[in-house]
Amino acid sequence: MIKLNSYLEAPSLLILGLKMSQQHLEKSSRISGFYKLPLEERLKIVAAWANLTEEEIKLLSNFGNLDRKLAESMIENVIGAMSYPFAVAVNFRINAKDYLVPMVIEEPSVVAAASNAARMLREANNGDGIRADASKQIMIGQVHLMKVPSPRTAVFEILRRKEEILDLANSTNETLVKLGGGAKDLEVRLIETRRGPCIAVNLLVDVIDAMGANTVDTMAEAVAPYLEKITGGEARLRIVSNYAIYRLARAWVRIDPEHIGGKEIAEKIADASAIAEADVFRAVTHNKGIMNGIIAVALATAQDHRAIEAGAHAYASRNGVYKPLSIWDIDSQGYLVGVLELPLQVGTVGGAVKTHPIAQIALKILGVKTAKELAEVMAAVGLAQNFAALRALVTTGIQAGHMKLHARNLAIAAGAQGELIDIIAEEMIKEGKISYGKAVELLKKYQKEIAK
Ligand code: MEV
Repeated sequence: MIKLNSYLEAPSLLILGLKMSQQHLEKSSRISGFYKLPLEERLKIVAAWANLTEEEIKLLSNFGNLDRKLAESMIENVIGAMSYPFAVAVNFRINAKDYLVPMVIEEPSVVAAASNAARMLREANNGDGIRADASKQIMIGQVHLMKVPSPRTAVFEILRRKEEILDLANSTNETLVKLGGGAKDLEVRLIETRRGPCIAVNLLVDVIDAMGANTVDTMAEAVAPYLEKITGGEARLRIVSNYAIYRLARAWVRIDPEHIGGKEIAEKIADASAIAEADVFRAVTHNKGIMNGIIAVALATAQDHRAIEAGAHAYASRNGVYKPLSIWDIDSQGYLVGVLELPLQVGTVGGAVKTHPIAQIALKILGVKTAKELAEVMAAVGLAQNFAALRALVTTGIQAGHMKLHARNLAIAAGAQGELIDIIAEEMIKEGKISYGKAVELLKKYQKEIAK
């Protein structure tokens, strides 16, 4: 633990840029060599900067289940760690297989809603549960060439040398090629930018079980000089595209309305979907609900969730207008049908998935080894989460569920156990008084009655 009594005791005052000027301290965020300092020193500097209390410093320095050295090797300038709750959604049946789904999220009700939806959707698709399917794990690596003297002919020149370019890309990753992956194809587009014409080369790489950004970045960098040579242009960007349109995951359900509360609810869910298709303001929130589930699994398994979000929302706009990623409707036999499609760039090997011990445990709980299966589970969770939100919205509204959960949590915090939890929660909701104090009062009342 780091003890710091006053600014003047901080040994790194000079580095910190806390300059004594006349009577007062002037703060500067320009801190040269901050990254080179030992963690304790960095923490002292920040503690002095923000006037952190001993208690706050102690909390920040608690690395929980993440080894401190590991944390420092993961990112730069580390001064502590932050824990999020790790939960498990139950009841999931996907492609006729049962799953416990690890979820990391700060928002109440999401896990409960996912579990609840998964329970109802177990009956879908003739008892196979949610169906899901992911395509091959194709990532795109891009090279953008500018200042090409003859862009039209250069495009054809690149296409003529396709095999050489793919071989060059594959020479960077023999292991992947041996496993059956690697650069498989390329696409070339001539695009007009406000700074002149640009040739966009997309390398299509089967990354198998990796998320694949590193793999395709290396390949893009490897082929760029060759592309410059054969086109006479200059490579500006050599990087992955997170618009992973060849790495799609799909999930779908076809369910008898009787299993989800009846025909009327099914019809209203279809209405809610139609509204999202027609109103972009609603579409964004509709998709946010889907991402509640997907990102919670992504966090538990240490995926690059920013990449998933970026790709998903771009995909939602693929036809020029932002649309919901899922559609709900009633089919000709009166079944409720829900379909979801989005790009999912996830991995089960490499990166933080490999290094973070909790991510490894999450994958073990999930019982998933391949990126394809992980993507399928995530799509299924996204669809279930979306179903839960729509069902709640068209019935009791979203707040009722929140309140119920909140009331239950307060009852538990007050010490209620077993049946008393729901009895106390329901009484608080009925009275419209949902507080810790009320929960304690009711618990005492019921305990007295039981003791009689
Ligand atoms: C809240 O986190 C998510 C919802 O707003 C999603 C939706 O409205 O569909 C409930």
